[in-house]
Amino acid sequence: MVPKRNSWAEPYKIKMVELLKMTTPEQRKKALAEAGYNTFLLKSEDVYIDLLTDSGTNAMSDDQWSGMMHGDEAYAGSKNYYNLEKAVAEVYGYPYLIPTHQGRGAENILSQIMIKAGDIVPGNMYFTTTRLHQELAGGIFHDVIIDEAHDSTSDFPFKGNVDLNKLDKLVEEFGAEKIPYLCVAVTVNLAGGQPVSMANLKEVRKYTEKKGIKVMLDMTRIAENAFFIQQKEEGYRLKTIAEIVKEICSLTDGATFSGKKDALVNIGGFLALRDEGIFEEARNMVVVYEGLHTYGGMAGRDMEAMAIGIHESVQDEHMKARIGQVFYLGDKMREFGVPIVKPIGGHGIFVDAKQFLPHLSQDEFPAQTLAAEIYLDAGIRTMERGIVSAGRKSNGENHYPKLELVRFTVPRRVYTQAHMDVIAESTARVYERRNSIKGLKMIYEPKYLRFFQARFEQI
Ligand SMILES: Cc1ncc(COP(=O)(O)O)c(C=O)c1O
Repeated sequence: MVPKRNSWAEPYKIKMVELLKMTTPEQRKKALAEAGYNTFLLKSEDVYIDLLTDSGTNAMSDDQWSGMMHGDEAYAGSKNYYNLEKAVAEVYGYPYLIPTHQGRGAENILSQIMIKAGDIVPGNMYFTTTRLHQELAGGIFHDVIIDEAHDSTSDFPFKGNVDLNKLDKLVEEFGAEKIPYLCVAVTVNLAGGQPVSMANLKEVRKYTEKKGIKVMLDMTRIAENAFFIQQKEEGYRLKTIAEIVKEICSLTDGATFSGKKDALVNIGGFLALRDEGIFEEARNMVVVYEGLHTYGGMAGRDMEAMAIGIHESVQDEHMKARIGQVFYLGDKMREFGVPIVKPIGGHGIFVDAKQFLPHLSQDEFPAQTLAAEIYLDAGIRTMERGIVSAGRKSNGENHYPKLELVRFTVPRRVYTQAHMDVIAESTARVYERRNSIKGLKMIYEPKYLRFFQARFEQI
C-alpha cells in the first residue's frame, strides 16, 4: 500500500552517543523532594529524557565541532567575531553586531539604551528575562498579542500576531514618544511556540513607521517561525526558510538573539542593529557588562560554532525534521487524549495543566505540580510555564496568567522518535491517574525570576 504522506526523517546520522542513567521510582521521589518539587533544581544525572528547555541543549554538527578548533582566543579582533558578523549580515541582513554571553545580555543592553523610567514597552506576550530587563530599566510592559494567544483551545495558525488595535490604544493613551520600541518575538515562547505571520509583521511595520516607533525583534526562534510561514501562509510555499528569515528581519530595526536555540549551539547570543547611533551606544555599554565588543561574553570558538550553526539553522531539511519531531510528539499525546495547546508550536509541546488538573486552583500551582508528576513517572524533565513563571507585579501581587502550561521542550538533533514515544506514553500514564494528584505550596520564593529557584512542598 502506498503511504498517505511522506514521513520526515533527520538529515543527519549519529556519530557519537551520550549514555543516560536510568533511575528507579524511589530514586526519583527522593531526588524530586530534595529539589523542592522544582524541575530546575534537579540534578541532570537524575534525568532520563531532558525536556526542560531547548536552550543550549542542542547537538552540534561535525562542522560546528571542527569550527571550535579554529577558535581565535585573542582578546581583541578575533577572526571568529568577523565570521559571526558576516553570518549575521548574510542570513539576517543586520549590519551591526554586538556579541553577548546569551540572549539576556543583549536584552539588558538594549533595554538600558532605549528605555527611560516610565516608558511603555509593548510586546506580543511577555518573556521572563525580556520583561524583567525592560522593567529594571524603568519600563512598563504591555501585552499586545492577539486574544487567541491566551486561549489554548484556539486553532488560529498565527497566534503570535500583534493586535494592532491594542497597540493603537496604547499609542492613543500614552503617546508614541513614550514608546521606545515595540518588541516582537518570533516565535512566541510563552504562548506555546506560536508564530507571527508575515502579513502581520508587514502591518506592524506600516503602522509603527507612521507613528515613528521602532520595532525590535526577539529573534530567538526566527527560523522556526519562518517554517510556519512557509507551511501556512499564502504566497510563501515556494520560498526557502532562508528567504523568509531575511524578509522578517527586513521589517525591523534590530534584534536580540539567544543563539542557544535556533543557532544550534550551547551558549551565546547577540544584539543586532541597523542604526549606527544605537550601535555606538551599545558598543560602549557591552564593555561594562559583557566584554570587549569583538567577543562580548563569548569565547572565539563559541562565536565560530554559532556562525556555522546560523547557516545550518535556515536549511529547509533541518527545519522540516526539527519541527516534524515536535509534531510527532504532539500528535501522539493527542491520541492519548492529553490536552495540549493548539496548534502545535515550534519548539515543544505545551500541555494545558488547567485542563489536565481541573481540580487544582491556580494558587496550588497546577503546572508546577504536573511537571513534578511527569518527572516521577519516568524521569522526564519538563518546565512550568504558568503562575510561577509569571511572577509578581510591582505592587507585589501575583500575576495570574490565563495559560497554565507545562512545556515539553524538544532539544534540536538530540533525541530519537523512540524517545518521543516514551514521553507520550509516560504523560498518558500520569493523565490516567490525574484525579489523585494533589497540588503544591511554595515554601521559598526568590525575588527575581522565581521559577528558577523557588521551592515547594506537597499539600
Ligand atoms: C523568547 C526568548 N527570548 C529570550 C530568551 C533569553 O535568552 P537566554 O536564555 O539566552 O538569555 C529566551 C530563552 O529562553 C527566549 O525563549
